[in-house]
Amino acid sequence: MPVITNIDDLHRIYRRRAPKMFYDYCESGSWTEQTFRENTSDFAQIYLRQRVAVDMANRTTATELVGEQAAMPVALAPVGLTGMQSADGEIKAARAAEKFGVPFTLSTMSICSIEDVAEHTTKPFWFQVYTLKDDDFMRRLFDRARDAGCSAIVVTVDLQVMGQRHKDIKNGLSAPPKPTLTNMLNLATKVRWGLGMLGTKRRFFGNIVGHAKEVTDPSSLATWTAEAFDPSLDWERIRTFKKMWGGKMIVKGIMEPEDAVQAVNAGADAIVVSNHGGRQLDGALSSIRALEPILQAVGDKVEVHLDSGIRSGQDVLKAVAMGAKGAWIGRAYVYGLGAMGEAGVTRALEVIHKELDTSMAFTGHRDIKEVTRDILHVPRGFSGDWD
Ligand code: GLV
Repeated sequence: MPVITNIDDLHRIYRRRAPKMFYDYCESGSWTEQTFRENTSDFAQIYLRQRVAVDMANRTTATELVGEQAAMPVALAPVGLTGMQSADGEIKAARAAEKFGVPFTLSTMSICSIEDVAEHTTKPFWFQVYTLKDDDFMRRLFDRARDAGCSAIVVTVDLQVMGQRHKDIKNGLSAPPKPTLTNMLNLATKVRWGLGMLGTKRRFFGNIVGHAKEVTDPSSLATWTAEAFDPSLDWERIRTFKKMWGGKMIVKGIMEPEDAVQAVNAGADAIVVSNHGGRQLDGALSSIRALEPILQAVGDKVEVHLDSGIRSGQDVLKAVAMGAKGAWIGRAYVYGLGAMGEAGVTRALEVIHKELDTSMAFTGHRDIKEVTRDILHVPRGFSGDWD
C-alpha cells in the first residue's frame, strides 16, 4: 500500500484509478462551483487557538450521534453512485464505517441495494430518502429500510430538482457507463476498476431499478431526477414520512434558520446543515458559514450536524467547536474508496481521526465533547451580518 498521510494522497490516487465520468461526478459542484469551492476554503478562514502545557494524556474522540455510539463525531454521508467508484462500493464503505465505529448512510441512488448492504454488514446503518412521485414505491422503501434494520432515515430536502453540473452532461454520466468510443478508451486505462466491475452484478441503481416505475433511461441520475422525483415535496409530506417510518428522522439540506424550525416542527430528530456539497444551489453560503444562525434558532431542540467541505480532522474539529454535533464526510471517503476500496475508506477514517485527535490535543482538550468555540479564532462577521 502506498504511504497515505492525508486525504489529498487518496484524492490523487483516486483521480488516476477512477473512470473520468465518476471522478468528475464526485468532484463537481453546480454551475460556477463557487459554493463547492467555498465549502472548503471557508474552513481555512477559521483558526485554531494553540494551548500549551495542558495535560494531553488519555484523550477521547468518542461521542453519540443521534443516540448511537460513534468513535468520533463523523458520519459517512449518502453519496449517489458509490458502487460505480469501486465495485460494490456501498458495501465496502459500510463495512469500513462499521469496523471504525462511525455511522454509514446509504443513498437512495446507490448501486448496492438496501438489502445488499444489510446482508454484508452486522450493525444498523442509516438510509437516505429521496422522494419519488410513486407513493407505492415510497411505502415499500420505508418497509425495506425497516426490514433491513436501518436505525434512522435521512430525508434529503434540497434535491427536488437538480443543480446543473456541466461535466456530467458533457460526459453523458450513467450507471453503468454507455459503450461509447470515448468511454471505452477511458475505461481501457482503468484495469483495476474494470476487473472489479466484471466481478459483480451490481451495476444499476439497486434501490430503484425493478422497484420503481420505469423512466425513459433508468441508467441516468439526471433522468430519474427529472422524471421520477417529486418536485412538490413539502413539510407536510415530510411529516407524513416521519409517521410512515415511525423511527428516527434526520433532515438533510438545511441552510436557513426558518427551514430548521420547519424541520423541527416536522418531527426531525436531527438536521444536517448542508448545501449538498455545493452541488445544488450555486451561490449559496458555505455550510460552515450557515451553521451558527441555525444553531441559534434550533440548537437546543435537535442535534445539528453539518456536511459539505470537510476534508480533514481539523475541519471536523472546527465544525464541532462551532457547535455541530457531527460532521459528515462524502468526497473524503469516496477518494479513499476509488483509490483502494474498503482499505481506502478505512485509511480516510484513520487519517481524519488522527488529525482530529492530535489537533484537539494542541487546542488543550482531551475530550471532544468538551470542545467549544473558545478554541477558535473566527473572523468577525464570518457567520453573516447580511442585509
Ligand atoms: C445526488 O445526490 C447528487 O448530488 O448527485
